[in-house]
Amino acid sequence: MAVKLNTNYLKSFINENELSHIAPSCKAALDALHSGNGAGSDFLGWLTLPADYDKDEFKRIKAAAEKIKSQSEVVIVLGIGGSYLGARAVIEALRGSLYNSRFKPEIYFAGNSISPTYMNEVLSLVEGRDFSVIVVSKSGTTTETALAFRVFKKLIEERYGADSKNRIFAVTDKARGTLKELSDKMGYETFVIPDNVGGRYSVLTAVGLLPIAVAGCDIDALMAGAKAAMDELKDTDLNKNACCKYAALRNILARKGFSVEMLVAYENFFMMMNEWFKQLFGESDGKDGKGLFPASATFSTDLHSLGQFIQEGSNIIFETVVQFKNTDNDFFLENDADNLDGLNFLSDQNMSNVSEKAFLGTLLAHTEGGVPNIILELDKLDEFNLGYLLFFFMKACALSGYILGVNPFDQPGVEAYKKNMFALLGKPGYEADKAALEAQIQKLNS
Ligand code: PA5
Repeated sequence: MAVKLNTNYLKSFINENELSHIAPSCKAALDALHSGNGAGSDFLGWLTLPADYDKDEFKRIKAAAEKIKSQSEVVIVLGIGGSYLGARAVIEALRGSLYNSRFKPEIYFAGNSISPTYMNEVLSLVEGRDFSVIVVSKSGTTTETALAFRVFKKLIEERYGADSKNRIFAVTDKARGTLKELSDKMGYETFVIPDNVGGRYSVLTAVGLLPIAVAGCDIDALMAGAKAAMDELKDTDLNKNACCKYAALRNILARKGFSVEMLVAYENFFMMMNEWFKQLFGESDGKDGKGLFPASATFSTDLHSLGQFIQEGSNIIFETVVQFKNTDNDFFLENDADNLDGLNFLSDQNMSNVSEKAFLGTLLAHTEGGVPNIILELDKLDEFNLGYLLFFFMKACALSGYILGVNPFDQPGVEAYKKNMFALLGKPGYEADKAALEAQIQKLNS
């Protein structure tokens, strides 16, 4: 299995009885997921996607990616939440957090906030440079994305006239929604987000695959890794199914008061994977007054910011560390004859060895400080292993939600802020609440 679960450092926190006790719930969760009898079963398309994906569309994704690469110095990907995090996470994981300084075309993500400053910054990046836009929205109506698309559509039309339709690519619902209607009318090439795949489970659809292919990643290998995970992570025996056991462990820890799961990696390239993980688990778990709060850290960077709290602060955190055993991109630390900085104790070895000692030292310190550590081991980061890891986390998230007793595929809580925002902005249909909200704000500020 490409992802191995190391529980050696959990022994003082969880015993075998606890695992035996939760095993029936895990089996029930797995059965519910595979039989489609659980909550939210209309959204299980991702579970078989690595085998059942649309092969013709996959070819079109590759062709579109080549076209985009050949005609663009800059690519703007518009989307929010599940409609951008997966793509950005995979690109940074595989091509590095400095992708835009090192590779072409540059890829920027927008439509994921309502920041005027950021909008102006991204607009300045396409000044005098050829660009294309990929707009991603399943509903086609998400405010942040739609607003940004309006701006970039106008710009592209002013710049390219009749050719603008060849520079806009839409990923959306197959038949419904404003974006689909607009795309059909304007003649944009469109790609489908299947009805049965929710936003945060959509990284292996065109949502993720098109920008990932533009970045030069091997999407065949990514899908092959996901397929291997799909085939391997089915066993109901916890000791033969790392994914199911991980879901069980995080639930056991949560029941013991460890209500914050901190995803940790010792690589900068994993920072956006952390963000993807947080959305996946946060939006899936956090409802009905339940759920583990998903947090993240990049070590050793954050040992100099969050390290103190983790070691000695409130005992609510457990860590899930993603460890890469090998790298194709190591750095040899040379000896320095003068040793004026006194660092020769680190030299004559690869930097990854130093990082591994930091990992072990931190593991021992945090464990002694009362912080449980789950370790997910991967040989190295490449497309295959990342595809495996993405599927591993999506399945663990679904199983974990079922064990927790929530629907891991809906997100009713996301609507609350939208309702208030629309009312305050005077969106048609929301007028009734406007006066009451304004009065509430005035009272709170008086
Ligand atoms: O995971 C989700 O479902 C959400 O984060 C959505 O992806 C996000 O709200 C964007 O929605 P849409 O693709 O409809 O614009």
